[in-house]
Amino acid sequence: MSEFPTLQDLVWAARQKLPSAVWEFVTFGTESETTVRRNRHSLDSVAFINRVMRDVSEVDTTTSLLGVKLRIPVVFAPVGSIALLDPGGALTAAKVAEEFEIMHVVSGFADPGYKAVAEGIKDKSRIVYALHPRAEQPFLDDLVDGVKEAGYKAITFVSEGAYYSRRERDLMSGLATKSKRSRTYASYLQQMRDERAAGKTASKEGLLGTMITWEMLERVKSRSGLPLILKGVTNAQDARLAMEHGVDVIYVSNHGGRSLDHARGTIQSLPDVVDAVKGKADIIVDGGFVRGSDVLKAIAMGAKAVSMGRMQSWALAAAGSAGLTRMLEILEEEIIVSMGLLGVTKLSQLNRDYVTPTHPVTQPHPLSAFPVVMERIAKE
Ligand SMILES: Cc1cc2nc3c(=O)[nH]c(=O)nc-3n(C[C@H](O)[C@H](O)[C@H](O)COP(=O)(O)O)c2cc1C
Repeated sequence: MSEFPTLQDLVWAARQKLPSAVWEFVTFGTESETTVRRNRHSLDSVAFINRVMRDVSEVDTTTSLLGVKLRIPVVFAPVGSIALLDPGGALTAAKVAEEFEIMHVVSGFADPGYKAVAEGIKDKSRIVYALHPRAEQPFLDDLVDGVKEAGYKAITFVSEGAYYSRRERDLMSGLATKSKRSRTYASYLQQMRDERAAGKTASKEGLLGTMITWEMLERVKSRSGLPLILKGVTNAQDARLAMEHGVDVIYVSNHGGRSLDHARGTIQSLPDVVDAVKGKADIIVDGGFVRGSDVLKAIAMGAKAVSMGRMQSWALAAAGSAGLTRMLEILEEEIIVSMGLLGVTKLSQLNRDYVTPTHPVTQPHPLSAFPVVMERIAKE
């Protein structure tokens, strides 16, 4: 029996190992934390409708994304501060993704940097680069060229972080003052002005982009020639525009409640996007997904794969590479068990007939999927 029989063991280990400010930074969200809570709450507001009397002795959990076969329909979301959780940072996650045969979307903010991550793995089809665009064209072009040369399978264009949001817990714990990225927008603008005045274009600090446009996206696509994933889509209008601008994969995300507060839960946004895309592009979704059952809800509602930020972060903090692998093993087991109990043997058999809106039985909370962890925290 593993040291971590359940996902809850991994989350609890992360909670015990991480300094409280880092635990809060990973776990919670922006301002009143409405979006982060709603992500979970809206998942908890979906019930399954299962079928019985079917042969479910052989269950196939595989799918494919951008022509790459995934062992389970899960990808690692971009986590910029991943090196806070494991010294190997994004390379640790990329190696696990390669070994387990899923994909890792490597954050442009992550250490050890995109080149070192690509050099550290053999199967480059397992890595996608998450581009946090900025306006200065030469720098963007250089970056896109570098990512292509490094062998990345695709580029994810991150659109939902035009402004760095106010993470009050990080401001209150003091973590924000230690992070260059958490400074106010005014200081960011001032820095951009200073950088421009000094003729600089390539400093990492200036990466946040308030001028992200469709033209920029088209330029990245045509320059790189790589498949493009647009992260941050939450509605039908933007999904349709994304299709018009040649986006290959739509990535439904509200940044895990770490960007705009008071947004919809992403599982609420998913049907609008699915209906607008009409099967012409694959869809990834993230925001609150931590369990196999969560993943299957998204697949039933039209997503091809689910991305995970917090669950990946907790598992990594719990036990590094072994924790992350264990998380995927447990997710795989949960997916097999739930598929069998739903009466399906292939992910493609799931559709909206298998889900229905319901009343949640939990309080809205980022940890609502983990009742034992919630109970232990309450007793502290
Ligand atoms: C600690 C942490 C750091 C993150 N850093 C980035 C980042 O650098 N770029 C990005 O596009 N998204 C980033 N995200 C957002 C995730 O990619 C993803 O959209 C979100 O975590 C999904 O919600 P979930 O955490 O509930 O799974 C980060 C999330 C967390 C938890």
